[in-house]
Amino acid sequence: MDEQELTDEVVARLAGTPDPRVREVMTSLVAHLHAFARDVRLTDGEWLAGLRFLTETGQTCTDTRQEFILLSDTLGLSSLVDLVNHGASDAAATEPTILGPFYVPGSPSREFGASMVEYDDGGEPAVLRGRVLTIDGAPVGGALIDTWQNAASGFYAVQQPGVQPATNLRGRFLTRADGSYEIRTVRPTPYPIPADGPVGRLLEQTGRHPWRAAHVHAIVSAAGFATVTTHIFDRASDYLDSDTVFGVKESLIRDFTPGQDGVLVCEHDIVLERAVLERAD
Ligand code: BEZ
Ligand code: FE
Repeated sequence: MDEQELTDEVVARLAGTPDPRVREVMTSLVAHLHAFARDVRLTDGEWLAGLRFLTETGQTCTDTRQEFILLSDTLGLSSLVDLVNHGASDAAATEPTILGPFYVPGSPSREFGASMVEYDDGGEPAVLRGRVLTIDGAPVGGALIDTWQNAASGFYAVQQPGVQPATNLRGRFLTRADGSYEIRTVRPTPYPIPADGPVGRLLEQTGRHPWRAAHVHAIVSAAGFATVTTHIFDRASDYLDSDTVFGVKESLIRDFTPGQDGVLVCEHDIVLERAVLERAD
């Protein structure tokens, strides 16, 4: 049996997969995996090193650390899946970007204008404000902004149990009837993704840095609209052009500028698309 015949034989064995989508995905996966091994003439040692790497990636995962998501993110796969699924969205809608591994569901509900700073580690005070709007510019009242960000130390609360309160710099905010929202927080800082595991070693081996440009995360949802998972990036941040997880989109970069009281203000409107089901009505 030659190389191509082997690939064909494996693909043929998948022909009986009952679920058509599983059949399609597995057939393509095998074809591309075999093509990759043939293309680089993968050696025995490299094959084993790859398996060891994936094993260690799994062993590095804990309840609060998802090394496989980091791997997907640093290989650009997470951003590619995002583009495949949301790339054709209305150009006027707020662009999505990756979720990342530090989202924790169940953040506290906070009032309009409330602070989500529960622990002071020297961050620069900042206010995020803007409106949630439809594509046509109408306000979306009652939209939920589920937001989280890192502290001045560079760490998210979930990475520093016992140092930061678990709900520090996380919150769920509702927009007012005019679509407005206001969040008191601190300026986000650039931070390195966890680089002490196999993914960090791979970055080093490939001459790459582990840094993310400074950003605030948000998942924005409202009844009848498609939920968007997105970021706001700080225009003054380093790494905007080399974010290690390929998450930066020009349309999401905003200025943090001093307001009248000297506190930094970042203005950012979020535009939601109607949910697909509603559009079909
Ligand atoms: C984040 O933005 O929280 C993140 C994204 C990808 C990898 C690590 C962190
Ligand atoms: Fe982040």
